[in-house]
Amino acid sequence: MQETEDTGLRGVVVAGTKISAVDGEKSKLSYRGYDIEELAKKSTFEETVYLLLYETLPTRKELEIFKEILASQRQLPRGVISHLEKRKKTAHPMDVLQSVILMLVDFDKDARVETKSANMEKSIRLIARIPTLVAAWDRVRKNLDVKKPDEGLGHAANFQYMLHGKVPDEEIARDFDTCLVLHAEHSFNASTFTARVVASTRASMYACIGAAVGALSGELHGGANTQVMKNLAEIGDVGRVEGWVKTKLDAGERIMGMGHAIYKTGDPRARILASISEKLAQRAGNARWYDISRKIESMTRSEFKKRKGKDIFPNVDFFSASVYYMMGIEPDLFTPIFAISRTPGWCAHIIEEKFAEAQPKPALYRPSAQYIGKYCGPEGCKYIPVEERG
Ligand code: ACO
Repeated sequence: MQETEDTGLRGVVVAGTKISAVDGEKSKLSYRGYDIEELAKKSTFEETVYLLLYETLPTRKELEIFKEILASQRQLPRGVISHLEKRKKTAHPMDVLQSVILMLVDFDKDARVETKSANMEKSIRLIARIPTLVAAWDRVRKNLDVKKPDEGLGHAANFQYMLHGKVPDEEIARDFDTCLVLHAEHSFNASTFTARVVASTRASMYACIGAAVGALSGELHGGANTQVMKNLAEIGDVGRVEGWVKTKLDAGERIMGMGHAIYKTGDPRARILASISEKLAQRAGNARWYDISRKIESMTRSEFKKRKGKDIFPNVDFFSASVYYMMGIEPDLFTPIFAISRTPGWCAHIIEEKFAEAQPKPALYRPSAQYIGKYCGPEGCKYIPVEERG
């Protein structure tokens, strides 16, 4: 058997995908052949979702119909809201999201129908309802009235409306929409790979998405954005960054939002998010969070170079923290918002895993492990009944 040289499957190609391409050396990302920078500038979340699910950009008419369908599916079943009202108000939004996604099965008669078209429809329902769920939980836990989705608003503006109880101005809605586009898909990252592993067992779309949400929640993956905001708040002032970064690195801790398993010359999404953060800071007349972020970035880069002899860059979670915070969003909702935006990517991968026509067809994931147990030698252990063990 091949010996493990590295951990975390770095550099191991486990399958083919037509959904997105990540070039870590050139700092490039594309969805279905379209560069992320162009999509961020010119596309919308709904159009990007269509692209991910249907493999092509929609015509104007197709997009119009798709937006209507998506908007019409936003409403949560009443049973879900009453369930939320019974939950402990301190429950973490990611735990609520993961568990309630599995509850949505009760309200979907096609939950276990395993055709491609049924899975496409379930994808649309999940993409439409997850934002409603995240916003509803935030309002329930704050004892605020739950806002019904507004079919007249786009995906991004409607989420902000359901969360804050008021329609955001156009610029904020557009910036938030760009954030959703930037997070929509990213090849075989930990949560997408999780979704594909679960899909490879032929488990349901809901089981796959629930598992992906769990994988996203960890602080080395999607959970990093919440930790970044905690760090910004803890530092509080740009003058304190230098000491803070050195202390963290001296203690062997990681600087959240910095570094990436694939991007070694910069994350293209982070550059766009940095510009949105800067713009929001200018608009607010308060650059505190943006300035602290920039200083953490430069300090971490120079310290990392000194200590490890290589460069490190901000990832997608780094500037999204200050962006969402300046949009008035609670830090523990940053990762659920990541889930809102990544759901189309997960769905596209689940469908590719289950229904790909390409050869070789995806198979049940079942890697091998190197057994490193050193118990009783090659013969194995002799079982001694519990009565004789003393
Ligand atoms: N701060 C300090 N040290 C770091 C950081 C960091 N942010 N990132 C990597 N390192 C160090 C590691 O400690 C390790 O040092 P060692 O060789 O002395 O043990 C070395 O760099 C390599 O680390 P790995 O985890 O093996 O390398 P990789 O580049 O694959 O790590 C990862 C990627 C896990 C994202 C890492 O950069 C990290 O932990 N970053 C902070 C958490 C974070 O922001 N996660 C979000 C990633 S983006 C996303 O998932 C959406």
